[in-house]
Amino acid sequence: MTDPIRAERDGDIAVIISNNPPVNALGAAVRIGLDRELKAALADDSVKAIVIRCDGRTFFAGADITEFTKPPVEPMLNVVIDAIEAATKPVIAAIHGTALGGGCEVTLGCHYRIAVPSAKIGVPEVKLGLLPGAGGTQRLPRVASVAAAAEMCSSGTPVSAKKAFEIGLVDKLAGEDSLAADAIAFARECIAKGARPSRDLPVKGTADDVKAVAEANARKFKGFDAPAANLRCVEAATRLPFDEGIAFERAEFMKLMMGSQSAAQRHIFFAERQAAKIDGIGEDVKARPIAKVGVIGAGTMGGGISMNFLSAGIPVTIVEMQQDALDRGTGTMRKNYEATAAKGRIKPEQVEAAMGALTPTLKLEDLADCDLIIEAVYESMDVKKDIFGKLDKICKPGAILASNTSYLDVDEIAASTSRPQDVLGMHFFSPANVMKLLEVVRGEKTAPDALLTAMGIAKKIGKVAVVAGVCHGFIGNRMLMPRQVEAMKLLMEGATPEQIDKVHTDFGMPMGPFQMSDLAGVDIGWHRDPNRIENLRDELAAAGRWGQKTGKGFYDYDDKRRPTPSAEVQGMIDTWSVKTGATKRAITEEEIIERTLYPMVNEGYLILEEGKAQRASDIDVVWIYGYGWPVYRGGPMFWGDLEGAKKIVAGLEKHGFAVAKSLKAKAA
Ligand code: 3HC
Repeated sequence: MTDPIRAERDGDIAVIISNNPPVNALGAAVRIGLDRELKAALADDSVKAIVIRCDGRTFFAGADITEFTKPPVEPMLNVVIDAIEAATKPVIAAIHGTALGGGCEVTLGCHYRIAVPSAKIGVPEVKLGLLPGAGGTQRLPRVASVAAAAEMCSSGTPVSAKKAFEIGLVDKLAGEDSLAADAIAFARECIAKGARPSRDLPVKGTADDVKAVAEANARKFKGFDAPAANLRCVEAATRLPFDEGIAFERAEFMKLMMGSQSAAQRHIFFAERQAAKIDGIGEDVKARPIAKVGVIGAGTMGGGISMNFLSAGIPVTIVEMQQDALDRGTGTMRKNYEATAAKGRIKPEQVEAAMGALTPTLKLEDLADCDLIIEAVYESMDVKKDIFGKLDKICKPGAILASNTSYLDVDEIAASTSRPQDVLGMHFFSPANVMKLLEVVRGEKTAPDALLTAMGIAKKIGKVAVVAGVCHGFIGNRMLMPRQVEAMKLLMEGATPEQIDKVHTDFGMPMGPFQMSDLAGVDIGWHRDPNRIENLRDELAAAGRWGQKTGKGFYDYDDKRRPTPSAEVQGMIDTWSVKTGATKRAITEEEIIERTLYPMVNEGYLILEEGKAQRASDIDVVWIYGYGWPVYRGGPMFWGDLEGAKKIVAGLEKHGFAVAKSLKAKAA
């Protein structure tokens, strides 16, 4: 391996340069090189100041996360940073791209910082279930302030160079294209000022600044270990001498590093990046250009899907059958954009730019010039086949024809065209303009470049895309089914909706199975045959208990949509319990977990056995980004491994489930 660190000279300034693609992570070779070149520059009397900068797309983006599970290699990052800080000559960090985590901590070890305006500086460790463990929590309150440190460490959100300049985290802004030269000039200015160790600066702020951040974010931090640990460290900086603060930080860092939450969050970091990779598609396959998108259906789904493309600057033609439905749909889109603008998240001119790129129409023929068409009409195979048959005649050759179906057979839809190689599923999650997940469904005949194009466009519109195979419900909804079935059975056997939901929300899910049913609509699928009352769900629907939209479902709702248990529903549960011949008994939390969460893990193994997901980590990504599975539990497959295959298999067998072969093998 070539040495990632080299040194150059510009008169009396030594420049230490890292070139460790892709993101200049601070791996062992980088640390060794930094240590070596720093010592050399310090030993050379002709050097008066030292600049540290990086080649490539970014300044150091952090410690090398892949090293966290390997034996440590010296020098450790904190030792290198301490050595930088202890330098008797001024050391200047020259920042471009993203100075993140350990990268930010290197800049804090330096005595001065210069950055290009487009640079971002942050400590995102909290997103990996960690904290800045190389002095960041102790130096940030001194270089910037306690308030800034508390905010940055607990949220993980980076600040722009401009903001960094305002809060004292950066001393000077460089020209966007002249960082190397500007840093050398700045270093010359710093010679007279001399070295300025961050540890010697006074802490700017008090413990109250930490408390304010904790209180403002209490809801967001719920369930996570790392935000509170970050805040404890920043608070420690307000009362402990620097070295004691560092010892405190180290102890907190090690606790997090050894815990399962950080392992889960690091797993998801890599899982998300892995999901973008498609098995069996080589470098030779090229994506098709997508300049214009068509969306069929201006309902909630179609509107949300369109907004993704419009927000990314891609024009959309949206088709409806009736003018009033079209007007309603586009009106809702405008309202959504305006609400976002009112919150200050986008500028008013962005609302107009997005809506200006939308072409509403009643004619399917207007999709002729689109490169990607996404059908988002209701779930009927006949309707979808009819639409795809028409698209086949209208759309230009090479256009990708996608269905947003959540359950239906994409191969059957593809067969209604003469170009099944161009057909695939693009399953968005509601609300489609917000939820990050996209299941890209690979049909039996989907061409590799069509799949690659769909995955690429997903990234462009800010989605996390996962490749799924054709099966009922694909990955996410397929795993939801056994959970919902068991939850209903548990009701018959004596559990209550609120008891089951609480187990799920205590686990960290945003809502439980019954809260989810009430949100989605208890009446889904019932309208086709409203005379049918075959189970509790049918009876709820027949009684107008359709969920939140009618103010009552499994729960009663007040005008603020707050749920309370319903005596009427309990009566219905009791009746159906008798009808189904179930025996009521006390149900434990453990049984609810074994019967609602273990079957999901089992289904995940079946999905892998059938080749409907590329890898276990993809399944985790689906559940984190599509259903709000708590990221600190790493997704169902990661969590299943933490629970242990043996325990899961025993739990499943105790309740009479058929266990996936591969799960059984793992347990054995
Ligand atoms: N260590 C190891 N590999 C890393 C890495 C890191 N810190 N950061 C990124 N990578 C890898 C990615 O896995 C990816 O690998 P792949 O191509 O094989 O999939 C590759 O670098 C490129 O990354 P992205 O696809 O994410 O590239 P982007 O340009 O979209 O984003 C980035 C760049 C903003 C730097 C983003 O990669 C990122 O946020 N990285 C993580 C930053 C981070 O969390 N730093 C803190 C690390 S922990 C730490 O420093 C502890 C310290 O306090 C002691």
